[in-house]
Amino acid sequence: MNVLVIGSGGREHALCWKIKQSPKVKRLYCAPGNGGIARIAECVGIAADDVQGLLQFALSKKIDLTIVGPEASLVAGVVDIFVQKGLKIFGPSQAASQLEGSKVFAKEFMQRRHIPTAVYKVFNDPALAVTYLQQAKFPLVVKADGIAAGKGVYVCADIKAAKKAIEEIMVQKIFAVAGDRIVIEECLQGPEVSLLAVCDGKHFLVLPTSQDHKRIFDDDLGPNTGGMGAFSPSPLVTVEVLDQIIARIIEPTIRGMYQEGNPFKGVLFAGLMLTSDGPKALEFNVRFGDPETQSILPRLQSDIVELFLAACDGRLHEIKVKWDESSCVCIVIASGGYPGKYQNGFVINGLDGVKEEDAVVFHAGTKNDGGTLVTNGGRVLSVVSLGRNLEAAAVKAYNNVSKIEFDHMFFRRDIAVKIGK
Ligand code: AMP
Ligand code: GLY
Repeated sequence: MNVLVIGSGGREHALCWKIKQSPKVKRLYCAPGNGGIARIAECVGIAADDVQGLLQFALSKKIDLTIVGPEASLVAGVVDIFVQKGLKIFGPSQAASQLEGSKVFAKEFMQRRHIPTAVYKVFNDPALAVTYLQQAKFPLVVKADGIAAGKGVYVCADIKAAKKAIEEIMVQKIFAVAGDRIVIEECLQGPEVSLLAVCDGKHFLVLPTSQDHKRIFDDDLGPNTGGMGAFSPSPLVTVEVLDQIIARIIEPTIRGMYQEGNPFKGVLFAGLMLTSDGPKALEFNVRFGDPETQSILPRLQSDIVELFLAACDGRLHEIKVKWDESSCVCIVIASGGYPGKYQNGFVINGLDGVKEEDAVVFHAGTKNDGGTLVTNGGRVLSVVSLGRNLEAAAVKAYNNVSKIEFDHMFFRRDIAVKIGK
């Protein structure tokens, strides 16, 4: 088979790495890829949201299966366009991608389907939103409706912070049309976990649980990032909690989307908070998480291509997937300054010292500069190790992080140490 992966992050490197292990795969392409992906796949210089460019490429290379990484490609409708041309592609339609593409859509859907989530209100007028604040309880959360590169959520301690959020989103329009509407919702308390499910429209198969570390600094301090590390499984998700998450959130979502004529195919990623009132959905993403994926896929023992084909063909209920019982820890190495300003182009040393049996290094912001690997983004590398428990996996991963070096490199030192309470 010829397989195409769309995207360029650590998530896509992990996907390519796992896909490459399948005996079914003859040629593997990645658009646009990165310096690490280029070592295992043929990278092609087409942007992830250049839907027409991707379609022409897939047709010309006779691609048998396409896997979509980023939400931007999905929200741009890449799946609909590929399907129209008879190409097999793993991911949700543009309409189903609204679960991530519009927070208003997601909240209204959850309310309709009685899925536990924070109580909310929608506003399309900043003046009305500010008036509402006068009688609201704090802290509360203000969210831009549309996709805002992970920055559209403001947890506001007081009215001043909430007014500023409304001003930035709806008046200054810092996220453009993504801020035409906002959701103001109750601030939930509790540890956060992620549950991803592969779906075929009707059936689903949950992947092992994971936890992300979103803040830039140790002890969950500083601004939010795309994710500074992750681990799997989450010890907070007992069998009982997992059953609740599936019964109250995942299953009603897949059933609801199907019943509403908008079946969900692809990865449903539920961002969850374990509150004293049970698990609640903070948000949905419609794709693999980054860096969650880097901590989940190394535990997958089955052929991932078989899983994708079963999902595309609507026969997920017919297959079984095997997981390694080990724990997995992923540590993200970033450019100093991220998530704010940082510089690119620093030479990355020490990767040859990382042995495959100890750790896999997935690349994100790297590129090949005339034979030298240099930094090329905020999140640069994910260093991933398996171990008999989280602690053993974390020790192994950190040992390997210490072999790697580039100017101004930065990483958190407490990944998988602080599990949440
Ligand atoms: P989202 O992009 O919706 O996942 O939000 C980003 C982060 O904001 C989440 O990972 C949470 O840490 C936080 N967050 C979002 N919604 C809420 C909420 N209702 N209560 C508390 N924290 C929230
Ligand atoms: N790690 C969170 C995300 O992928 O959005």
